[in-house]
Amino acid sequence: MDSIHLHHLLSKMTREEKIGQMVQLAGEIYKEEDSENTGPMHEMNLSPEKMATIGSVLGISGAQTLIDIQKEHLAKSRLGIPLLFMADVIHGYRTIFPIPLGMSSTWDPDLVEESAILSAKEAAVSGLHVTFAPMVDLVRDARWGRVLESTGEDPYLNQLYARAFVRGYQGKDITNNKLSVAACIKHFAGYGAPIAGREYNTVELSERTLREMYLPAYQAGIDEGSKLVMTAFNSLDGVPATANKPLMRDILRKEFGFQGVLISDWASVGEMIPHGIAADLKQAADLAIKAGVDIEMMTGGYLNHLHDLIDEGEISESLLDEAVWRILTLKNELGLFEDPYRGANSKEEKTMVFSREHREKARKIAEESMVLLKNEKQVLPLDNQQKIALFVPEEQSKDVLGAWSWKGQQKESVSVYEGLLQHVSKESIVLKTYSPLTNENQKDWLADVENVDVLIIVGGESSYMSGEGASRSNLKLPAEQIQLIKKLRTTSKPISLILFNGRPLDLTDIIQDVDSMIEAWFPGTEAGSAVANLLFGLKNPSGKLTMSFPRAVGQVPLYYNQDSTGRPLTPYNQEDKYLSRYLDVENSPLFPFGFGLSYTQFKYSPMQVTVAESKEEVNIEVTITNNGDRSGAEIVQLYVRDKVGEVVRPVKELKRFKKVFLEPGQSIGVLFQLQKQDFEYVHQDLSVSVEAGEFDLMVGSNSEELEIETIYLDFKKK
Ligand code: NOJ
Repeated sequence: MDSIHLHHLLSKMTREEKIGQMVQLAGEIYKEEDSENTGPMHEMNLSPEKMATIGSVLGISGAQTLIDIQKEHLAKSRLGIPLLFMADVIHGYRTIFPIPLGMSSTWDPDLVEESAILSAKEAAVSGLHVTFAPMVDLVRDARWGRVLESTGEDPYLNQLYARAFVRGYQGKDITNNKLSVAACIKHFAGYGAPIAGREYNTVELSERTLREMYLPAYQAGIDEGSKLVMTAFNSLDGVPATANKPLMRDILRKEFGFQGVLISDWASVGEMIPHGIAADLKQAADLAIKAGVDIEMMTGGYLNHLHDLIDEGEISESLLDEAVWRILTLKNELGLFEDPYRGANSKEEKTMVFSREHREKARKIAEESMVLLKNEKQVLPLDNQQKIALFVPEEQSKDVLGAWSWKGQQKESVSVYEGLLQHVSKESIVLKTYSPLTNENQKDWLADVENVDVLIIVGGESSYMSGEGASRSNLKLPAEQIQLIKKLRTTSKPISLILFNGRPLDLTDIIQDVDSMIEAWFPGTEAGSAVANLLFGLKNPSGKLTMSFPRAVGQVPLYYNQDSTGRPLTPYNQEDKYLSRYLDVENSPLFPFGFGLSYTQFKYSPMQVTVAESKEEVNIEVTITNNGDRSGAEIVQLYVRDKVGEVVRPVKELKRFKKVFLEPGQSIGVLFQLQKQDFEYVHQDLSVSVEAGEFDLMVGSNSEELEIETIYLDFKKK
């Protein structure tokens, strides 16, 4: 439809029809029988007439189901305005890829984009139009359960991943590519920084930190063309995001130029009441629409109060027009006026969803996402002649998909046991389930493992323990896992620990008791195949952490790019007390940002630094050599420290990285180029610039093992 027709459509709409477009209902409503008198329809005061005006539905899928709902809806809608179908397709639809925190550990935005392309295909063929992804919230606090849905603690990486996800979901031409879905950048803004890591808690950020660390990823996703943005649950500077006018009207709309649809999070309009900034749902609706929220998800504030708010002169109808225009534009961009069923196709759904090709990609990405945290005495890779004892927690042997895997099915995912069986026979594995634990069976285990060569323990978190609503104040492994590891350590057998979890864990208790450790995250559908390929060396681990792993929960929030303090702990003042330090634990993480081992060894040449004549640009070159006897990939990282700033600068900031693949003995030169804008930062007055001065350039294999060179750059004042 061209814009003249779209305007014409808007001009024909009644106030009720406009309000309906701004309401999003849960898919259950369409399944309810007698729903007007009971259940959700009743709760929202939803008459059949109002139902016919509704604009969008969430959390329901399946090609035929959605075709039927759409057909029925169009028959009732006076102007024939199709519904938008939205859902949480976070790391895969039914083929589940690793959790985003795992995918970010690939340091490979292209792979992440490929995962999003396949997720979009499966979602679109099943009738969906919009995914509530990606979540691009920067995270620093491992207690928060939703770190699993993030791409970690670094603003530069987060920007690259935000763009990759949006590109993958939406493709180049969303109107004509019916197997794409619209993306929704969330949760605007600062949801990743709840105080004390407690879900839905207050966020306290200075505007300078917000702009320097948190906003860039949202902006990157918006610049990449994300069609939607979702508001955050939290308050920011005392105002819940969904009511936060400066955030939404000034920053999101004016500054970032976002013209797409702004949707509230689930019930976040209604939650203004317990937040204590609205006395009732009417006032909440008033605040939300004034902040520029176009669609209200799940509470009936818009549905039941916008009409009166206009009558009472509290808001003008132009606010409705503005919101509905954006919603209609999205429907139009998705081509729904011409084809309200878009990609939905039950025949293709059967062959494409969970296809062999998609699973193959899920395995490959899972392999790239896993991080080898420890490998003493080269216990890994295993040789397939070895006899293995495999310990799995009963309830979790197929719990590999993570908490955000809506359509993913545990029963069709690959467990570690099944993965091992792709390489060795049943006879060479002694399989043990270790929960619940009793002294009695512990005795048996020791007897049972007498004749095996290696012990593999699968541990970590259950999917219940991470994700939304899963904050933890203790980041250790569950007690029975620690006991099991300690018990098995009394044997002389090498122990390999495989971790499935959604957050950085505190592994201090057991680090000395295991010989090797693979952080596998929640790897998705192909978990076991990917783990087994790493264990047997068919794939050399190459993932690196994008969130620091603490030594103790008391260090959290812990992140590599922390600000410099006035009393830093250095190698030369370790005995001093009056420093920024703890009495009972080191400052450093157990495993730093950027860390990950390989079965081979990479050697870095000294870096060659060339400052351009202008003194405003610099080239950094380093040669990496594979000194081992296996091929493998290394993620070469470049960090910068601004030695004197107008405001305190982070001790280091990631500026570039490159993933290189090297055959044994091979060397590759890596060239990084930095320009003035790479050194710029947010100043006291919130302007962005950089002054001439000294900078440390740091190159290495993780954020702690770095070679440093100091340069002087003479940035000219404009
Ligand atoms: C609440 C979550 O915060 C959000 O990320 C999600 O998209 C919505 N629920 C819809 O399920």
